[in-house]
Amino acid sequence: MRIVICPDESDLSRQAAFLVAAAIGRSPRMVLGLAAGATPIGLYHALGRHHADGLDFSGVAVFGLDEYFGLAADHPACFRGNIQRHFLNGVNIPPSRVSWPYCRPDEDIAARCAAYERAIADAGGIDVQVLGIGVNGHLGFNEPGSSLGGRTRLVRLSATTRHANERNFPVAGDMPESAVTQGIGTILEARRLLLMASGESKAAAVEQALEGPVTSMLPASAVQLHPNVTVFLDRAAASRLRRREEYEAETDMARRLGLLNL
Ligand code: F6R
Repeated sequence: MRIVICPDESDLSRQAAFLVAAAIGRSPRMVLGLAAGATPIGLYHALGRHHADGLDFSGVAVFGLDEYFGLAADHPACFRGNIQRHFLNGVNIPPSRVSWPYCRPDEDIAARCAAYERAIADAGGIDVQVLGIGVNGHLGFNEPGSSLGGRTRLVRLSATTRHANERNFPVAGDMPESAVTQGIGTILEARRLLLMASGESKAAAVEQALEGPVTSMLPASAVQLHPNVTVFLDRAAASRLRRREEYEAETDMARRLGLLNL
């Protein structure tokens, strides 16, 4: 696991974008897994700048990590819409190469989830999965207690998550109580994980996920089991890490060796 501590959020976004852009440069038909939420917005905008500078996204395929269940597609909190606005509108990924978990209540949701897993497998699997982390350590919408081998499924949102995300639902009662998320087992099958966190509110979850025991009670701790993880943190999110100075020294070394694009 490489842990990169960045001076601030804009640097974190820029560094993460270099990683994704390099992966696309090496493998133009790569498969990208995308988290929504506030954290990766800077990354998505930075990727738009890479596209403006000539990076071709036309071969890239995208799979969404999760979505609120039953939320109207035009609701401002809808994750698919969020990614459309902050990322897809600024790059040239064909709409036919964008897939999102099916989230309408009037369908056989278990079959839809199984089909989503098959679609990921048929695309060759996810090459780079972009992830944020919840204040309660959730990954995707895998809330504390989720199986570390879990697959894409309908889940109930925890009270902590509902509270953390209520800012996106100005109309009381609008927030769905459930969501469809890739499982931790699905996420761990991606070839590379890119976990991002910024701000003091994430510091405790980051510390437990990266330095605590691997446990279903802190689902993001499962990234410790993955062989190829890069974690981008700003200083506030890294503030509780016990090995913070070692990670900073490793980051400096990587910079000196030209392994980071600072
Ligand atoms: C979003 C997702 C969530 C968020 C997490 C952090 O697709 O899967 O796990 O990454 O809740 O959200 P923000 O970035 O808004 O703090």
